[in-house]
Amino acid sequence: MANSNFKGLDLKRAATGIMVGLPFLLLSAVNVPLGIVSFITVFALFYLKRFLYASLLSLVFYIVAVMAFFGSAYSANPVMGLAYMAIAMLLPLLVYGLDFKIAVDTYSQFISPILGIGSLALMFVPFPGPALGLGYAVASSITSKREVFSIYYLPPLGFIIVYLTSALFTGTPIGMGLRHVVLSMQNLLLYAGALPSRPLYAVALIGSFILAMLSSFVVPKSLLVKREMRVRDAAVTTAGIGAVSTMALKPFFINPHTKIDVRRHMTTVRKFMGYLTHSRISIAMAVSALAGLVLSLPLGAWSLLALAVSSIGVLVGVYAAAYVSDLDTLKSLFSGILVDVPNEQELEQLFKENWLVLIGMDELKDRLVKTSMSFEDVPGVRPIHGILLYGPAGTGKTALGIGYAAWLAMNRGFNLFVVRAGRILRGGPYDAAHRLDLIFQLAEAYQPAVIYIDEIDALGRVRESPDAPTYLTTSVLLQDIDGIVSRYAKVLVIGTTNSKDVLDPALVRPGRLGDMLIYADRPPKELVRKIILGIAEQKKVTIPNDLLDKASEVLETGADAESFVNCVALKEKLGLEGELSECLKAVSTGLPAY
Ligand SMILES: Nc1ncnc2c1ncn2[C@@H]1O[C@H](COP(=O)(O)OP(=O)(O)O)[C@@H](O)[C@H]1O
Ligand SMILES: [Mg+2]
Repeated sequence: MANSNFKGLDLKRAATGIMVGLPFLLLSAVNVPLGIVSFITVFALFYLKRFLYASLLSLVFYIVAVMAFFGSAYSANPVMGLAYMAIAMLLPLLVYGLDFKIAVDTYSQFISPILGIGSLALMFVPFPGPALGLGYAVASSITSKREVFSIYYLPPLGFIIVYLTSALFTGTPIGMGLRHVVLSMQNLLLYAGALPSRPLYAVALIGSFILAMLSSFVVPKSLLVKREMRVRDAAVTTAGIGAVSTMALKPFFINPHTKIDVRRHMTTVRKFMGYLTHSRISIAMAVSALAGLVLSLPLGAWSLLALAVSSIGVLVGVYAAAYVSDLDTLKSLFSGILVDVPNEQELEQLFKENWLVLIGMDELKDRLVKTSMSFEDVPGVRPIHGILLYGPAGTGKTALGIGYAAWLAMNRGFNLFVVRAGRILRGGPYDAAHRLDLIFQLAEAYQPAVIYIDEIDALGRVRESPDAPTYLTTSVLLQDIDGIVSRYAKVLVIGTTNSKDVLDPALVRPGRLGDMLIYADRPPKELVRKIILGIAEQKKVTIPNDLLDKASEVLETGADAESFVNCVALKEKLGLEGELSECLKAVSTGLPAY
């Protein structure tokens, strides 16, 4: 597989950084230094994974752009100038304020606000800047976990309303009749100002806005949940929806005085929408709708051009969002923030250092490998939801669990998410539960997936009282492991614990972690000997027979054996002082004996 690292530079992250920074670079059209400085800053912070700061600064730069843009209006008339600025600033500020709380939680909220603010910034860039802005609005809404009507559509929506109102009720050329109202949205009117035929352009423009908005209903699900739906299909669907809605709404714009049976019209539109989930049909729909639009309009090169450019802007957004939500890209940005997503080399290493080193556990390994058959698509077979490895410390539970998870990733195409309790439990219990839930959502979007949780008792403790700190994370585990969307979802949770008793009983029942309970016991004496020998072989050290006999008597677990052999290796290979037999003590007393 292509490696996205080039001499230490993470190309995926760099490409994403350039993409999110681009709108700010284009702000150079308003003010050159502003454009360059904001691009460099946003890009650099993004590349360094300071997502929160990158998004905060993008907001600051947007505000500066607003002030620069309305500066002359302010000097001419301070009251009106401030009013314009307020309109341009208030909405994103409000919305952004809300988003910040969540911004700390997950990758998608890191990138979504930056793309959203980028889409607003593009409103100030001359045509076709705003059309590209539409694309960014789409990308923002697709990458946002905050559902459906991404708030970043609101400014363009306000613009549409002004536009429509003036078109429908004044009968005067668009943008003239309601001059004073429209003036406050003048920045957005850059769209129209660049084109000679405003009414025609309005059709295309409004069509593409609607396209952008509707795509936020359809595309996120198809891209994130139904991964098998290809990006191209999603883009085509989006274009199809846009074309159909343009067609549906066209009569309103073509001749505002025509009487229309709105109900019937809407029924037709709804019926069309139903077909759109099928990509071939949506291609046909898009083509016919476009043909209809073209034929019924007095043909104008400008209106076609405008439609084309606007649609391209939206498609750019869809592709951009698809790019960012691609798991490979996601990994390069996301890993280490909410959950670890090992890459291929790391998987191989996990597999080698954990699965392969384990000695005397072949039966368990076999059982686990066979279990993976439950993930093949056989009607009536429910994939197992959970595996719990429990037993005394040092018996290889962690190694077996993470090793198996890596095996699934390497051999069965699973996406592995390694949960670290410490990272989850930052902040309060509400944040923790929310984060855990997000990981499950992510895993569900990237099926088949395996979520590995070491020391799961930190999150899934028995719910003694509702005030207990882990009450909420336990609830999330209970709900999510059993499959919120489908019990047939291919999401496997592997947990390990030293004390099964402190886990919530409901967590250990079948259908959850109880689908497969594996007790890792202390190995019997003969096996301890085998383990010591095996590890010695792996580490290429020799252990005198008498010491081996003694060690097999004294040592209790695989972890003891590993630590013992490691001590011998240190002495043999590095020539550390002292008798080899001191290594036996080292296992119980720790470092000083080395
Ligand atoms: N059966 C075994 N064979 C070889 N090494 C083992 C075995 N069991 C444990 N080990 C070694 O001990 C280390 C620690 O074990 P670990 O999986 O963390 O134990 P647990 O999670 O049960 O406390 C492992 O990484 C491995 O090196
Ligand atoms: Mg462990």
